[in-house]
Amino acid sequence: MPVSLVILTQPGDARPRRELTVAAGTSILTAAHDGGVDVTATCGGRGRCTSCRVKFVEGTIPPPTIMDEIQLGDDLVREGYRLSCQCTVTEPITVQVAPPLEEHAFQILGAGPGVGGLGVRIDAGIAKELVKVSLPREEHHQTSDLEQLAAAVGVAPESVGPSVLAGLPQALRDDPAGVTVTTFVSGSISGSGPGGAARTVVAVERGDTTAMKFGLAIDVGTTSVVTTLIELESGEQLASVSSLNPQAVFGGDLMSRIAFAQFNPTNLRKLQTRIVGLLNQHVAEVCRTSGVLPKWIYKAVVVGNTCMHHLLLGIDPSHVGLAPYAPVMRHAAVLPARDLPLKIAPEARVCLLPLVAGFVGADAVAVALATRLADSPALRVAVDIGTNGEVLLGSRERLLACSAPAGPALEGAQIRHGMRGAQGAIDKVTIDHDVHIHTIGETPALGICGSGLIDLLAGLLDAGVIDWTGLIQVEARDSLPPALRGRVAMRGEERVFVVLRPGEAGARAEIVLTQDDVRQVQLAKGAIASGITMLLHVAAVPLERVEELLLAGGFGNYLSILSAIRIGLIPALPVGRVRYVGNAASLGAQLCLLSEAERAHADTIASRIEHVSLAAHPDFEQIFVDAMNFPRA
Ligand code: FES
Repeated sequence: MPVSLVILTQPGDARPRRELTVAAGTSILTAAHDGGVDVTATCGGRGRCTSCRVKFVEGTIPPPTIMDEIQLGDDLVREGYRLSCQCTVTEPITVQVAPPLEEHAFQILGAGPGVGGLGVRIDAGIAKELVKVSLPREEHHQTSDLEQLAAAVGVAPESVGPSVLAGLPQALRDDPAGVTVTTFVSGSISGSGPGGAARTVVAVERGDTTAMKFGLAIDVGTTSVVTTLIELESGEQLASVSSLNPQAVFGGDLMSRIAFAQFNPTNLRKLQTRIVGLLNQHVAEVCRTSGVLPKWIYKAVVVGNTCMHHLLLGIDPSHVGLAPYAPVMRHAAVLPARDLPLKIAPEARVCLLPLVAGFVGADAVAVALATRLADSPALRVAVDIGTNGEVLLGSRERLLACSAPAGPALEGAQIRHGMRGAQGAIDKVTIDHDVHIHTIGETPALGICGSGLIDLLAGLLDAGVIDWTGLIQVEARDSLPPALRGRVAMRGEERVFVVLRPGEAGARAEIVLTQDDVRQVQLAKGAIASGITMLLHVAAVPLERVEELLLAGGFGNYLSILSAIRIGLIPALPVGRVRYVGNAASLGAQLCLLSEAERAHADTIASRIEHVSLAAHPDFEQIFVDAMNFPRA
């Protein structure tokens, strides 16, 4: 039976009130998404976060579910908030979408310092030349603008893209100085699709624009997306912009996003539209800040995990989420920008790096390339920490990789008072006789982000507030210093540690760490630590032989190495052998943008990477269970 559902959106939304008619029994979240209303669903509708909460404005407020009580707490439940994914529409109601948590000033990934220092010979494959084309003058002269252009440039007419043809007659006749022809020659990459090793004409502009030659390096992560504009002669970074991946509205992690798209072309299209829309916003922004015109951007290199790659291309990722997790394609692809469409030169080449497996994607290839893991005689480990992290182990002898699906907990999601690394997030914690915190922007504390969580757990372990199994020591709290003792509590069935009471460090409300939060971090760090252990196990090398451990990803930049070792997120190597490398995936994309030789090398690396499937390995379960526990002091 159809029921009316009115959704009031946030101030500033173009349509502040949506009136929907939905089938009775539909969840509010599903109804909202089907009706085109943005309601964030970080956990993919599993009742494990608070992002989808709505407030009842009219109609009967249903009794809270257990998930409402756990996630929202008594106060919000009393005020009429419910999780929209857990609440079905049974009678006419009006709900207000809750504002997103305060999350400005994200400390998410940046583009990093650029490729200087890696000794790359710049050859982006893009060439521009000023050409005088002799136009057909006589009627009996059987030729065409295109043939005359092709003859002047020395290419086959078929190598000129259709979008170039549209403006060709005018360009050829507008400026007596001639036209600037931009061509692309790809490195020798097998299966590189359109563009192959042949010379392709990607633009024809009137007059002399030979000095204008730009490209984009794009890193599409599950959580964040980074776009960098680079001058293709000098390699200089002109602008960089990063944002949260807007697909997160439909699920914070890969599996929830795959589930959303699974066998549902409409939802797949929504996910693709979101990411292409964001990339076009990024193009507009980097062009605005640098003064570069989008039509002068002739090449883009995109890296991302397999799911992000498929969604960007509009490829159904359903089977990536089902055993044996096969990707639809793996080879490096080159396509014209108009196919996405990316609003740069329409025939610009968009190059996607190759994939390795369903959960080891082009981002892992880019990390291996940027860290030179595959070229060094020393055995090294690279860990890309993120919602869908990857671990690589190797040297020039052998290269192994596995996925380490840490989930979003280390980015503050699915944690009671977790938040991303934004202003007001607790990012550092020390514990002696009491708790001392630091917040991003040194503003009043709003919640706790990943680096703060790791510090907090490290401190609580050292102080004996939690034991090596992760249990909050309520029964043994009498042995703690008085200030800490007062923070350990049993609330109903739940063990909690009160990080801040209202008023402490400017906190407006209490900030707690729950037993379940500890478990979430244990799962996340267990995924990464067991990935490292498994690769060492499969390669049959002891930890001592690892000369360096490289931490990549935005999170890695703000993490305390000592705390990460203390909680067992990374193995106990001497601190001097652990190094941050920043956003290595973006750096890999930049390398491939500036050098076709590097792009060809990425192809070789992808073919060398041996994918280790963790779940299929007989020893994995035990290794994972061990990795979930904390190291004993
Ligand atoms: S609790 Fe509803 S989407 Fe997470």
